[in-house]
This record gives sequence, C-alpha cells and structure tokens, in this order.
Amino acid sequence: MSSASPASHETLAPGQTGRLRVVFVGHVDHGKSTLIGRIFYDTNSLPDGKVDQIRKACAEEGMDFEYAFLLDALLEEQEQNITIDTTQIQFKTAKRPYVIIDAPGHKEFLKNMITGAASADAAVLLIAANEGVQEQSCRHGYLLSLLGIKQVVVAVNKMDLVGYSQETFEAVRTEYSAFLSRIGVEARAFVPIAARNGVNVAGRTPDAGAENPISWYDGPTVLEMLDTFEPPAPLVAMPLRMPIQDIYRFDERRLLVGRIESGTLRVGDTLVFSPNNKTSVVASIENWSGPEKTFALAGESVAITLREQIFVQRGHVASHEAHAPIESNRFKARLFWMGKRPLAVGSPYKLKLATQELDAEVVSVERVIDASTLDTVSGGQAFINRNDVAEVTLQTRGALVMDNHDSNPFMGRFVIVDDRNVAGGGIIHGGVYSDRTKVKSSNIYWSEGNVLPRNRSLRNGHRGAVLWLTGLSGSGKSALARNLERELFNGGRQVYVLDGDNIRHGLNSNLGFSPEDRMENIRRVAEVATLMADAGLIVITAFISPYRQDRRRAREIVLEGGHEFAEIFVDASLEVCEARDVKGLYKRARAGEITDFTGISAPYEAPENPELDVRTGELSLDESSALVLDYIVPRIRAVAEDEVSI
Ligand code: ADX
Repeated sequence: MSSASPASHETLAPGQTGRLRVVFVGHVDHGKSTLIGRIFYDTNSLPDGKVDQIRKACAEEGMDFEYAFLLDALLEEQEQNITIDTTQIQFKTAKRPYVIIDAPGHKEFLKNMITGAASADAAVLLIAANEGVQEQSCRHGYLLSLLGIKQVVVAVNKMDLVGYSQETFEAVRTEYSAFLSRIGVEARAFVPIAARNGVNVAGRTPDAGAENPISWYDGPTVLEMLDTFEPPAPLVAMPLRMPIQDIYRFDERRLLVGRIESGTLRVGDTLVFSPNNKTSVVASIENWSGPEKTFALAGESVAITLREQIFVQRGHVASHEAHAPIESNRFKARLFWMGKRPLAVGSPYKLKLATQELDAEVVSVERVIDASTLDTVSGGQAFINRNDVAEVTLQTRGALVMDNHDSNPFMGRFVIVDDRNVAGGGIIHGGVYSDRTKVKSSNIYWSEGNVLPRNRSLRNGHRGAVLWLTGLSGSGKSALARNLERELFNGGRQVYVLDGDNIRHGLNSNLGFSPEDRMENIRRVAEVATLMADAGLIVITAFISPYRQDRRRAREIVLEGGHEFAEIFVDASLEVCEARDVKGLYKRARAGEITDFTGISAPYEAPENPELDVRTGELSLDESSALVLDYIVPRIRAVAEDEVSI
C-alpha cells in the first residue's frame, strides 16, 4: 500500500520549495493558452525540439507561429499517454515546481474546480486589456472567493493591442479591484502583460536586449509574482480527518482503509467514528512492505486495525474526540449549480462529501446571487439555474459528517449529483467555529421529520445493543441473562431476553440440532436481535451457539445493523455443567437417548476472542452480572444532549 504523500516523491533542487498548484482563469479569448504556452517556452518546460517542430509545421501551413500551439501540442501528447492526467501540466522556475491544475478549454474545468478534483493554492486571473472586465471575469473572481483561493495575481493581457496604454491598464485595475474587494479577494498584484510577445511573463521584454514596451511599469512579472506566493498550509497541522473508504477482512482481522485528509494518526490513538460516535483505539497501522508503522500523516492512504470491533462502514469519518467534525442532516451552504436542468427545491439528489453519499434535497433558497454583479437576484424561489450561485439550506437523509469550509476545506466541500452527473457543488459555511456548541447556535439543526436511532437513544438514555451469551447447556446462560435483564430494567433501561428454550418453541420450532439447523437458529436470532436493537432495546441472547462461524455471522448481522455487539462466553467446563445437569439432559445424552448433544456427541467451539469471558464456575451470579454491566453500560450511553447539534 502506498503510504507516502505525493509531494514527498519530488526531489527538489537546493533552494527550491514544494510545488504550488496554480489555476489560470479567464475568458476564453483573453489569451490563457498563449500565456501558458509562453510560460512553458520561457521556463524551458517543453520537450526538446518541440518548438522547432511547431514552428516548422506552422510555416508549412502558411500560418503564424502561436505560443498557444505549444500547449495544444503538449496536451495532445499527454492525451495519448493515458497514465498522465491531462488536467495536470507542470513547469518549473528557479524557485520551485508548479502544477497548472486546469488545461484551458478543458470542459471539466469548472467542475474540477468546484468539486475539488483540482484544488489550487493560487490563481492567475486573466483579463484582456482591449476587452476589459467582462461578466465572466467577475464570475471567475467569485468562484475563487467561493473556493477560498486567496493568492491571486491579475494578468492584464494583450497590452500590445492597446498600444501598451497605462491609462487602459489603470482603468481595468480600478474596476476589477473594486469588484474583487467586494467579494473578499485581494489581488496581490495587477501585471500588464503581452503574453504573445513575452512581455512581463517571465522577463520584461520579448527577447534579451529588446526595448521594454511597458517601461512605465516597474512591478513584478507574472512568474516573479507567483514565486512570492506561499506554499499551502500543511494539512498535517489540522485536526485528523480520515474518511473510511472500505473495510476489508483478513482472517479474523478487520482493516479500515482510507486516506488521511488532514492531521496525524498514531497507534494507540482513541478514534471517534462519526456519525455514530463509536470509539476505539488504533491497534496497528499496516505496512506490508516495510517496518512497523507507528504513525501516518495527511496525504497518506492507510489501512488500520482497531483494538475493539465496533461498527464502522464506508462513509464514516475517523477523528480525535477533542476535535471531532460536525454532524447534521440540515445545514446552510453556498452552492454553484452547473446542471443542464435547473435545480429544483424539494427534488431528490445525491450529495457526496468525502466518502459519504446521501440522499439530499434543497429545502429552501435564501439568496440567488448573480456572480458577475453580486446582486441578489432573488430569494425564496423554487429553482436554481445553471451558472447561478445560491445560498441554500440543504437536508440529507441521515446525518452528514462535515466541517465548516473555513476550518477544513476538504470536509467542507460537497458535490450534488443529478442523474449520475455532478451537477453542482458547494461549500458549507456558517462562520468560523471550532467546536460543536458554537455550531449548534448557528445554522445547523436536526430534522424533526424522522425518528432516528439517535432520537430513540436520547429518549432511552442508551443505544440499542446485543449481548450475545454463548456456552454449554447448563453453563448458566439463562440465569445470567435473566439476572442482567432485571438489573438493567431496574436501572431504567429498555431490555429483553431471547432465550433458546423459548425461541425454539415458537419462531424456531421447526429446527432441530443438526449443524445446519443450529446455523439457521442462530441466523434468525441474530436478525431478530438486530431488529429489536433497532427499536432501541438492549437484547440479551442466551443460546449455546456452539459454532464459531455462526457466532461470527451473528456479529456481522448486528454490526451491519449499526449496533454494539458483545460476545460473552459463559464459561463453565463440561465437568461442571454435567455435574449440575439441571435438566437431566447430560445423563440422557450419555445414555444415548439424545443425539447430537453439545459437549457429548456434538462439538462446542469455545470463543477465541470474546469481549468477555465470564467464569460462572468460579463467580456468583451477581459477580458475573457485574462484570457484564461494567462492560456494557458505559458503551451504550446515549450521546449527551450538548454533544448533538440540535
Ligand atoms: S443452539 O446450539 O442452536 O444454540 P439452543 O441454545 O437454541 O442451541 O438450544 C439449546 C437447548 O436445547 C439446551 O439448553 C437444551 O435444553 C435443549 N437441547 C435439546 N437437545 C439438545 C441437543 N442435542 N444439544 C444441545 N441442546 C439441546
């Protein structure tokens, strides 16, 4: 399994810093391809002979050479090599490597930006001096603010077409910086350029020794400006977020697989898994190819094991308890819609955030913003049109785990899928907050529509759970189950016992004691116990359940239902059970009157790794009960009211 972050693969020359991801945005005709082509040319980022080859091809066609062709040629080459992501092209300055995260003209450009498939650390906004600030320039500026890109350089291109006029440049600067400041984006610099001639791209003049046509400008060039930008804030320093991608089973072990999006994870850490807030300790970080791993950092994809088996599934997010993410099924967001069909309030969509995928709908539209004028077009409407940005309230079916975009961009960004296509994306916003209580008071609250497991557990004071007692006939399962039931009931808890002797009279009266029948017996009991745990009950089952595989299956059924499962070995030796022989069955089995009798003529496979081993031969009934209660009660505690965002 790969465990290194992509950045660590790079070898940097002395004095170089880590790479910066740059997005080039601008109106299609404002010279993006030319600027990027010129940057490649000026930084020697093209394969040998490429420039000559293209010059020659242009001459043969009777066309003027264009720098934009360099980019086209590069992209074409990359497209033939499917292993290279064509949306990622790179160049280097003396200071550091850069990745251009969108290829101009790439259809997926907007989508990549909004979905975070291409997240940028900095942006070059292009405006053509001869055309000035256009609607699309404003829309792009707004997108940058939406995505939180703060390092922006505005390149005012095609200065050659306006006679290198300082006046024209200043007019664009005044108009556009006023717009940007309204949306909270501060351009670090406005640079007048002529990309085609290479003026103020890398150098100030087209060729060494040539006259500088923009001598009135003494600021930095585009590349000099990019070199002043900061590398991205280290994700490692942020709270841990590890969205679970998958769970694999190897032998008896369960491996939780996912990418650490932020923070650090160590063996021995207590992790809380949202949204159901189960906790467990990291037992190991797998590393098949190398030495034992004790920690892993943001950017790594890892497989971990936990000390205790708790219910975890794809979509759950692991974090540290002190800095857990928010959970809610209703929240406010800024949404950018790019679907072919308008978004309709109340219609069902799929919402994806990290590895979570939930049914979702927009419940209300607070504001629709025209991204170019920033005017509020309307509010309270039933549709959001393509290319509109809106402030909306969203509701998901089930709790969504998230962060405010300001505090964790990765967990604060989602996409909306309409008919299997990404049709919109957005960020979760609600002001800056650092803990759950503050969120509670802002805009995140629970729906009152459905009765969720959480609602039941809050009313009962505990969550549903299954205590699975296993042991020989006569080991004391029924007695322990009844005693526990009484104790829990007296403690105000909802509890019910499923016992072999009575279930076999009703639900399972058609089953005997062959291995197949016992398997079916246990399967049905596990399903029924899961339903009862769903209803919020603590279910205590008392069945011999002699086969390991059947008990493992029972555990899976219960865990898949989202409930706590504890295997409790009611541990008394065959000698003790046979000596007790409460029902006289051992005697009859020895006499051959009962076939397939567990312990005599049928096997009992003792648990290898039960949650509890209760030696009923040595402990009193109350001592045995206390052991179980000490174990289970803290684990099924309902999440306290103030920990839930209401
Ligand atoms: S299990 O193996 O399928 O889990 P279960 O707990 O339901 O068994 O039923 C066990 C009870 O059935 C015993 O307590 C005993 O009273 C009775 N019984 C009757 N025949 C057998 C048998 N052959 N083996 C074990 N228990 C039996």
